Amino acid sequence: MSAPLLRIENVSVHFPVHKGLMQREVAAVKAVEKVTLTLNQGEAFGLVGESGCGKTTLARTVLRLVDPTEGEIWFDGQNITGMSGKSLLPYRKRVAAIFQDPFSSLNPRMTAGGILSEVLRVHRYEGDVSARVAELLQICGLAPRFADLYPHQMSGGQRQRVGIARALALEPDLIVCDEAVSALDVSIQAQIINLLTDLRKRFGLTFLFIGHDLSVVRHLCDRVAVMYLGRVMEMAGSEELFDNPEHPYTRALIDAVPNPDPLSEAERATTALAGEIPSPLDPPSGCVFHTRCPIATAQCRTEIPEAVTVGPDHVAACLAVSERPVSEKTT
Ligand SMILES: Nc1ncnc2c1ncn2[C@@H]1O[C@H](COP(=O)(O)OP(=O)(O)OP(=O)(O)O)[C@@H](O)[C@H]1O
Ligand SMILES: [Mg+2]
Repeated sequence: MSAPLLRIENVSVHFPVHKGLMQREVAAVKAVEKVTLTLNQGEAFGLVGESGCGKTTLARTVLRLVDPTEGEIWFDGQNITGMSGKSLLPYRKRVAAIFQDPFSSLNPRMTAGGILSEVLRVHRYEGDVSARVAELLQICGLAPRFADLYPHQMSGGQRQRVGIARALALEPDLIVCDEAVSALDVSIQAQIINLLTDLRKRFGLTFLFIGHDLSVVRHLCDRVAVMYLGRVMEMAGSEELFDNPEHPYTRALIDAVPNPDPLSEAERATTALAGEIPSPLDPPSGCVFHTRCPIATAQCRTEIPEAVTVGPDHVAACLAVSERPVSEKTT
């Protein structure tokens, strides 16, 4: 296995809620709760889970746009949690992001060429800026004339290619993709996914890929973590997770996807996701999933399940699954 590149260690992110004239802190949105995971060099790691489970918050914490309430982020052997200002610059060069909506993340008043050269200049690129801009466009499958076009003159897929070119500008090691293909038409999605796959191979990139489309995540990612109300419920290799889900929440998520080979009615009854997602302001006690879990017991209301090993490189945090020690080292 290759070396760890990014280590998220027991990270929680709570957003305080203030009230009244004195702006007293009255509560906190528990967006991310005690998440621990490792991305190895060159792998594509997927994060899935329903809306509001904390995927974007975790990504923004990795990008150092949000400070963790507790825990640490390590990158290439360095603790970057307490770094700020200038000391973060080398990290900012090595970690880039691609967002869902390139319209809002690309400056509408700048041409693609302007957008790309700005990134290069800010980071004091030492080579020929316009040659590098042309190269970046070409790498992302855009003709040289795109350098002179504004975001509104491009299609959604072309804009996302500019977003990818911008992410690649400083030759990063890690790219955080937050729903990077979700807003695109299915045929354009496929092209962008192919581009990301090619770039990953060509440049040995590591990806943190957030997506709500499980088939896209399965196709693109080597390993996947399933989040619910800020917590990681299950984590495994992509094939293993989708073929042998152990956590009732993962099963419910997979079952919610329209499937040409549907489960029998009896099986479906044990996996259907019932009810609303509880508020992260006041998450349920014990296992946060117990209020919607088809197999919850009284114990689940009080006991927070630890992540246990259920297979090689496969962990699940559920009291109903029992530990199955494996000889292989797990993360
Ligand atoms: N800056 C903030 N201040 C307060 N609460 C926030 C803030 N950012 C996110 N939240 C809350 O934190 C929780 C997690 O949000 P987040 O955007 O990380 O979820 P997500 O998994 O990315 O959802 P989606 O799939 O809809 O993008 C939500 O309850 C959200 O309302
Ligand atoms: Mg999000």
